Amino acid sequence: MNVVLGVGGGIAAYKAAELSRLLQDRGITVQVVMTSAAQKFITPLTFAALTNRKVITDLFTDRGEEETLSSAVEHIRVAQDHQLLVIAPATADLIAKMAHGHADDFLSTLYLAFTGPVVIAPAMNTNMWNHPAVVQNMRVLRERGHRIVEPGEGLLACGTTGPGRLAEPMAIAHEVSTVLFGVKDLEGEVVLITAGPTEEPIDPVRYITNRSSGKMGYAVADAAVRRGARVILISGPTSIPIPAGVEFIRVGTAREMRDAVFSKLGAANIVIKAAAVADYHVSNASDQKIKKTAARLTLELDPNPDILAEVGAQKGDRILIGFAAETHNMVAEAKRKMQTKNCDMVVGNFVNTPGTGFASDENAVTLVLRTGEIVEIEKASKQDVAGKILDQIQKLRLVAPAKS
Ligand code: CTP
Repeated sequence: MNVVLGVGGGIAAYKAAELSRLLQDRGITVQVVMTSAAQKFITPLTFAALTNRKVITDLFTDRGEEETLSSAVEHIRVAQDHQLLVIAPATADLIAKMAHGHADDFLSTLYLAFTGPVVIAPAMNTNMWNHPAVVQNMRVLRERGHRIVEPGEGLLACGTTGPGRLAEPMAIAHEVSTVLFGVKDLEGEVVLITAGPTEEPIDPVRYITNRSSGKMGYAVADAAVRRGARVILISGPTSIPIPAGVEFIRVGTAREMRDAVFSKLGAANIVIKAAAVADYHVSNASDQKIKKTAARLTLELDPNPDILAEVGAQKGDRILIGFAAETHNMVAEAKRKMQTKNCDMVVGNFVNTPGTGFASDENAVTLVLRTGEIVEIEKASKQDVAGKILDQIQKLRLVAPAKS
């Protein structure tokens, strides 16, 4: 496997040296490309010695007229010969160039010519990282499907404290090998996932529903398939694409969802209840369209079955994951639901925070584990959050699950 390591100009550039070693330890051949700013922080010689290869530092090398053509198309050759591009550290400038398609040096030109997966590890001052311009550019890169290794928090070289510190080289190397080789740690597992809202009819043309888009549950389903699991996705009405490779069951009401879950439960050893199930259905739903009158209309509601609690009551050896979308007291509510519904973990999130939760492409969640541990997952794409939820499930599987 051949990887291009693009090094941007920041204090953290020296950490890219360690990254180049870690990648090579994994059997990966590393071609380093440095921006001119990167060369102010660390010399190409360091990388050349570590990788045993010439480091690419410029779009046009001064090698005389004959070589001008070959150097002019070198970025195309490099793009074709490598399976992954990792950029670490990715500075605000590099991020902006990538987001907007600028191509004024080798790395940015290579980025445009490159068709394989891209892993980006940003590093910069906290205020820069939080600037709307950078936030917007990062959103563009995330939406483009690039893998982001989020910066860590801590004391930065500029003396401030906050997010912006380059992720540990080990975490970046792990992400690169996950993308390159794929982690098949769920092979042999059967994961049953519910997602989306339910729709409870009032009459043939009207229904009660909620704001769930299904995106989080679908992202978990997609990530679980990629990690080798057999995935059964039971979904309420949504308008998002069905992830490739899942066994898909479409349902409407909570009661249909319950029946579908119990028809598949026997096969499943991991159950993830991401669906926003309606707690009530209309007891006096009409077979015919209800006509408008001047009188007050009262809908009577009966409780729906609590699918998660019913699964919890007969969970056996399964790992059971619930979700708790809350507007307040999120952790306390997640803990309560974990206990009353006999879950191993509850994924809690605030649904009244702008930019996360329902319908958003991003989410920030708090994982409440039955071990008592609480794990915060910072705002990230729902794909990234899905991966982290699965990582925690894997950890839970290492300690025997609680039985019902
Ligand atoms: N859930 C379920 N069946 C229901 C209601 C909820 O399976 N009838 C599941 C959801 O899929 C989710 C978890 O229970 O995994 C928590 O859902 P939530 O609506 O937050 O919890 P409720 O128990 O309904 O509590 P409340 O609405 O009062 O917050």
